Amino acid sequence: MRISPPSDFLNLSVGLVMAMFAVGGAALPHAARATTSSCSRACMTAIITDVLDSMVAHDPLLAIDAAQGTGYFALDVNEGNDDVQTILRGRIAVVDQKITELELFLNRNRGDHGFSFNATQLVPNYRTLMMPPANRTKNSRKTLETVSEALFATSSETVVTVDDNCQFTELGWKVVDTGVYGNGTTDPLGCNWPDSHPTDDNARVNLVIDEELGFIVTSGIIPGKVYPYNGNVSAFIPNRMTDAQAAQDVWFAEMKAKATLPVLSPMNATGDTLEVLQYYNGKLQAMQINVFMNGPSMTSAWL
Ligand SMILES: *[C@@H]1O[C@H](CO)[C@@H](O)[C@H](O)[C@H]1NC(C)=O
Ligand SMILES: *[C@@H]1O[C@H](CO)[C@@H](O)[C@H](O)[C@H]1NC(C)=O
Ligand SMILES: *[C@@H]1O[C@H](CO)[C@@H](O)[C@H](O)[C@H]1NC(C)=O
Ligand SMILES: *[C@@H]1O[C@H](CO)[C@@H](O)[C@H](O)[C@H]1NC(C)=O
Ligand SMILES: *[C@@H]1O[C@H](CO)[C@@H](O)[C@H](O)[C@H]1NC(C)=O
Repeated sequence: MRISPPSDFLNLSVGLVMAMFAVGGAALPHAARATTSSCSRACMTAIITDVLDSMVAHDPLLAIDAAQGTGYFALDVNEGNDDVQTILRGRIAVVDQKITELELFLNRNRGDHGFSFNATQLVPNYRTLMMPPANRTKNSRKTLETVSEALFATSSETVVTVDDNCQFTELGWKVVDTGVYGNGTTDPLGCNWPDSHPTDDNARVNLVIDEELGFIVTSGIIPGKVYPYNGNVSAFIPNRMTDAQAAQDVWFAEMKAKATLPVLSPMNATGDTLEVLQYYNGKLQAMQINVFMNGPSMTSAWL
């Protein structure tokens, strides 16, 4: 959502928040499958324990803000099926060593209306972020806060320089955007800090500022529209990116006239975004756009 046309917005993936206990029959412990219609207290306990035990952490991405008592984590988990990984990500706040806030998202796949997604690539991609060069210059908390405040701002004086090796991902994946006609480059996209970007005047800035690793976590609620894209995938385009929406309207009209592709009808939606940036050596080193797609006019429960 942060890259400029023609490669912005793109490909989306989607998950379902906290539907953790909705496991399929194949994942249930043997005893639980004895009857399909009822489940005793012991049976329910066994199922829930099984689900929780199955969520094995694999060295999460961790951003820690000891000054505020907040943290962000992301990792791949399985929900009872070892063959299918889900992205679990979230944020906590701690007061007096007790959790006071817990914000969790599960992204399970690339939905028809979702951002890019790859749970397999998530871990190798963030592992490099967890091991920044030892000789890096750490930037001040103030600088990191300025970047967070600029991210979804309607206007900002902040100039953000993008490192040549900045890693860009959406839900684990180094995004490849071959364009609406599917004939563009297959090179993964780099980071970008464009003037035309989604905005949120009520963005939750400075949620986590990790001065050690340079992580910055910011949340914006972004109204937009889900369009068909390259035939059978979709793209979420923020309403603020009017040129990009207009270009997509042109393509959509063309596809409709041709009538050779089944295309979805564009649909209003809201991107609940928990964006993770990494910043050191005075430059942007990583940009992770993590979105949970919601219906139109959705607002944040955290405001
Ligand atoms: C995710 O990445 C893995 C490893 O590169 C690849 O094998 C797999 O097909 C990808 N999955 C999706 C859904 O793109
Ligand atoms: C850190 O060390 C690498 C070589 O290991 C060097 O290329 C790089 O310029 C150094 N960076 C800084 C900020 O000193
Ligand atoms: C991709 O296809 C479109 C439509 O056929 C065409 O207009 C465009 O020039 C092509 N782009 C490339 C890079 O080949
Ligand atoms: C989506 O479109 C691509 C390119 O036209 C095609 O190869 C693929 O089979 C399609 N997938 C589905 C699920 O229709
Ligand atoms: C979708 O959003 C646009 C822009 O906010 C609005 O003008 C339009 O009425 C909405 N459409 C529907 C069907 O809600």
